Amino acid sequence: MGFLTGRHAYHPSHGQATKRPLTANATTFRYAGYGMGRTGREFSMARTRRPLIAGNWKMNGLKADALALAKDLAAGVKQVGWSDRELLVCPPATLVAAIAEAARGSGLLVGGQNCHAKASGAHTGDVSAEMLKDAGATHVIVGHSERRADCGETDSIVRAKAEAAWRAGLVPIVCIGETLSEREAGDTLSVLETQLKGSVPPGAAAANLVVAYEPVWAIGTGKTPTVDEVSAAHAHIRKVLGGLTGDAAGVRLLYGGSVKGSNAAELLAAGDVDGALVGGASLHAAEFLAIAKAA
Ligand code: PGA
Repeated sequence: MGFLTGRHAYHPSHGQATKRPLTANATTFRYAGYGMGRTGREFSMARTRRPLIAGNWKMNGLKADALALAKDLAAGVKQVGWSDRELLVCPPATLVAAIAEAARGSGLLVGGQNCHAKASGAHTGDVSAEMLKDAGATHVIVGHSERRADCGETDSIVRAKAEAAWRAGLVPIVCIGETLSEREAGDTLSVLETQLKGSVPPGAAAANLVVAYEPVWAIGTGKTPTVDEVSAAHAHIRKVLGGLTGDAAGVRLLYGGSVKGSNAAELLAAGDVDGALVGGASLHAAEFLAIAKAA
């Protein structure tokens, strides 16, 4: 049995793109699906922020199972023909080229999980943003909390990686998030602000940046913040982004940390949430597509 235990065939009946009614959250410029914005500005903001559902496969996947998963996802995405949301998978570096090939023409996007700040050189074992681009990637995750913790990545390292992504023509997904002790100390918003200011390079804009808010204590634990806590964090992130880019209202902010099919609709409806960064649940085609459907 590979890593895709519980993988199911994708059922078209689960995947029809549904028109989403305007919700109360639309007043916070949340993507509401279709028209009906109360002001012209709100309408255009809503349309600008197309939800992004990104799968972070982490260090999971050997070729056969990973390709089977990618093919199921590509078939699901192609069948539904979503134009109002984007789906992205970030497999291990060894599989980016093969998954990009399997996804070609389907609309499923492929990204890396990390990159080096330099384009090339004597950095044994590292992968550059240019290499990811060359392999077919469109995005790269930078500053995931596991890399911040395991590899000592600081905000300035993350920022250099985000700049490397731009240099290569990739969109960085910059991850930030507080630890449990920081949350318990009441420091969540200030931690997010510090990480954001340190990790987002000058020149950020809606078209070249995605930010993922991932509370460290929610990753892989089955625990999630409340919807109000997610909304408060995202509103603060957008406010801080306002000082870093003139385009803050258009930047997509993803929530990540124990997102699954059963809680996706609620989390994705939180104010200022424009998609999800999904770990464990992205390893199952039906579950990942169900999360995408909830966006
Ligand atoms: P999880 O991981 O969905 O398994 O909690 C999320 C992430 O680390 O990006």
